[in-house]
Amino acid sequence: MKKLATSYLVPPRGMLVLRTLSSYSSFSRKAIEYTAALFTTRRRLSSTPFAAMVTCKAIRVYELGGPEVLRYEDIEVGEPGDGEVRVKNLAIGINFIDVYFRKGVYKTQLPFIPGVEAAGVVTAVGPGLTGRKVGDRVAYAGKAIGSYTEEQILLAENVVPIPPSIDFITAASIMLKGMTAQFLLRRCFQVQPGHTILVHAAAGGVGSLLCQWGRALGATVIGTVSTEEKAAQALQDGCHYTILYKSENFVDRVKEITNGKGVQVVYDSVGKDTIQGSLDCLAYRGYMVIFGQSSGIPDPISLSALQSKSLFLTRPTMMHYIGTRDELLATAGEVFTNVASGILKARVNHTYPLSQAAEAHCDLESRKTSGCIILLPGSAE
Ligand SMILES: NC(=O)c1ccc[n+]([C@@H]2O[C@H](COP(=O)([O-])OP(=O)(O)OC[C@H]3O[C@@H](n4cnc5c(N)ncnc54)[C@H](OP(=O)(O)O)[C@@H]3O)[C@@H](O)[C@H]2O)c1
Repeated sequence: MKKLATSYLVPPRGMLVLRTLSSYSSFSRKAIEYTAALFTTRRRLSSTPFAAMVTCKAIRVYELGGPEVLRYEDIEVGEPGDGEVRVKNLAIGINFIDVYFRKGVYKTQLPFIPGVEAAGVVTAVGPGLTGRKVGDRVAYAGKAIGSYTEEQILLAENVVPIPPSIDFITAASIMLKGMTAQFLLRRCFQVQPGHTILVHAAAGGVGSLLCQWGRALGATVIGTVSTEEKAAQALQDGCHYTILYKSENFVDRVKEITNGKGVQVVYDSVGKDTIQGSLDCLAYRGYMVIFGQSSGIPDPISLSALQSKSLFLTRPTMMHYIGTRDELLATAGEVFTNVASGILKARVNHTYPLSQAAEAHCDLESRKTSGCIILLPGSAE
């Protein structure tokens, strides 16, 4: 078994091989790396100071609603202030949380630029900031909203360096979803060899990583998915068993697989449609980890529902596990190390130009996607 990363280590050099990549995205990878190198060289050679304002393309939301409220337009980005950097985004990660913000399930002030994850290069550094420079390769996730843009201002303390062996598309795919998998499997509940775990939406962005990492930790992994194609992917990602939860009774199947004992932990991001069944799948003293609600906000759980098997219940948020700079670096570092060593593979199954963010949201919400979805700024429209 490959050695699992347990702390922030600098990963070894070496190119990553993705299991599922369209020729479009492999072409885009080379183009993005070339753009980043060119951009950095030009900036270093140039003696001209940066213009005060940069005009670029972004997606903006003026009213809550369906994917059609995602408007592609010009915005102006200023100079970074104290403690800030300006970053040119070269790959932008789409996450289900972007849908919650667009619909108003999670609140933010209108108008806003959606998105919480991207990777790119630093294009300007705020006055007096040390340790950061133009051309730095960086990624960020979760700490600020506004990544669906070609360029943006960020607090320097919220961005992390991308190891040289990891490309921008991989970094933007793996940062939020990988850090989510890290805190769920290693801190929220500590998965150990011998545990049996149930992962809902096992072929999704987070689900795919939970299966890969959970298996590497020595657990027996049961994954639920909606289609045969997604089941095939989940099996490749390390699931020992898959359940088609739209046509099969997943509670009965889990009881059958575990000889009636149930699982030690359920990772439930589906919410409304699965929560009751998830509780029924747990063993005595099992952990119910409900970390999302792609099917809708779940009904409340009564204390007596927990008492029947002495269950634990938590509704965690990644932000509370990467609150300090040290926690952010350690969590991202562990993810990058496991990517570099091949324990985790980013499944970049879908790429869209930034201008087509609405199409990407449609596909995500209608369960057409699997793995990670990436928006590419500046790509052909
Ligand atoms: N708490 C945290 O800090 C945290 C952090 C990151 C993500 N999350 C949560 O993790 C979940 C996964 O995020 P992701 O970005 O990786 O998305 P995703 O899993 O790639 O996409 C959502 C998946 O959920 C399943 N699903 C089941 N019922 C659905 C419904 N009614 N509508 C739409 N999808 C449905 C679908 O898989 P099937 O077709 O196989 O059913 C779908 O592909 C989300 O709920 C997200 O909010 C939470």
